[in-house]
Amino acid sequence: MAHFATCTTWTAALISAGLGYLTYSQLRPLPRRAGTQAPTETVVIVGASSGLGREVALQYAARGARILLVARRHELLASLAAECASAADAHPATQVAYHVADISDPVDVAATAEAWATSLSNDNEIGSPPVLDTLILCAGIISVRPFTEWTASFGESDHPPASLQDRLTRARGQIDRIMGINFSGLVTTTQAFLPYLQRAPAGRVVVISSAAGKTGTPTRSLYAASKHALHGFFDSLRIELAAAPRVELTDYPEGQRVSAPVSVCLVCPATIDTDLRRTAVDLPSEPRGATPNVADRNSLQPSPAPAVQVAGSQKRKLSPAACAARVIRAADNTQEREVFIPKFFSVVPWIQLVWPGLLDYLASRKYGMV
Ligand SMILES: NC(=O)c1ccc[n+]([C@@H]2O[C@H](COP(=O)([O-])OP(=O)(O)OC[C@H]3O[C@@H](n4cnc5c(N)ncnc54)[C@H](OP(=O)(O)O)[C@@H]3O)[C@@H](O)[C@H]2O)c1
Repeated sequence: MAHFATCTTWTAALISAGLGYLTYSQLRPLPRRAGTQAPTETVVIVGASSGLGREVALQYAARGARILLVARRHELLASLAAECASAADAHPATQVAYHVADISDPVDVAATAEAWATSLSNDNEIGSPPVLDTLILCAGIISVRPFTEWTASFGESDHPPASLQDRLTRARGQIDRIMGINFSGLVTTTQAFLPYLQRAPAGRVVVISSAAGKTGTPTRSLYAASKHALHGFFDSLRIELAAAPRVELTDYPEGQRVSAPVSVCLVCPATIDTDLRRTAVDLPSEPRGATPNVADRNSLQPSPAPAVQVAGSQKRKLSPAACAARVIRAADNTQEREVFIPKFFSVVPWIQLVWPGLLDYLASRKYGMV
């Protein structure tokens, strides 16, 4: 009996120590990367007009960064830029600009990077080349229906019924749309900003993936595929960048004159309390994920509610502000390669290895498949 009590006490002590360490490791202040102090820290946030990206922008504004906000909805960007500058906790050094761009269009991406570089060069009295410390890739849209249900719905009301070729073509359009934003759009944006990141003492790319980027997710198959693709690309890019030649930084103080390799972190949140579901490419009504026309780009109206029941938990959603704080922490700590929010989701890759059927079952339950 005494032996049992001792074991229980030790187990409780170990669990408390573990939980205490986890809490401490998540909350302790981290040193910022070299070169990222106000008023010189430069940050580009892609997908900043709403949700997580918006919160990230507000938190960078509070620490005096020079921020570029990028998304398609013009008025949301303009009002966010004003809010960043006027927020009670805004740092006096904060500078915010915005650029309206659809990242699925390479012309928009090129124009964004060129406009940003030009404005930074013009402001720079000594004429040194533009430098980007942090690129936050937050833009994304979702899919919310089982693949078979969605593809079967094509041509449902057509007379005569739509041909297989027509149905495949329609599906292909939506697949290209989600991949064009969630994957190709983020890759080309990285390509456009990489030269500026390589001139920073420790350039950092933070990619917002998802828990769906690490495991199969029913009703989100296209979305999960686009997020898995990000891991394949950015995990490879990280290795290439580590081997890339270092740049000599003559403008920086002693000790920071050779750039560290640009580092990459993928952040995998669980469900966040944002409006993402309304962007779904596979909703029956015209999706908001489509490239909006000029009127839509200027619209501040909330999107209409989805016309179909969307599976997935409405409970225990993560707060965008708490996620944004974790994203900025991941941007500051160049050692982090992959971050799960909440932390205990880091077990996902391990369960995937040792008991994948359990993950399938949990995902089926979460998305109402069983
Ligand atoms: N919400 C969740 O449960 C959840 C969970 C895990 C991961 N995530 C990820 O978190 C990121 C942010 O999503 P959120 O939840 O904050 O949803 P959100 O409010 O809909 O934010 C998505 C952002 O992406 C931008 N965007 C979409 N398509 C774009 C395009 N073609 N070009 C430029 N910008 C574009 C949107 O701006 P415009 O519409 O103005 O262009 C918006 O600013 C996404 O990558 C999402 O996959 C979300």
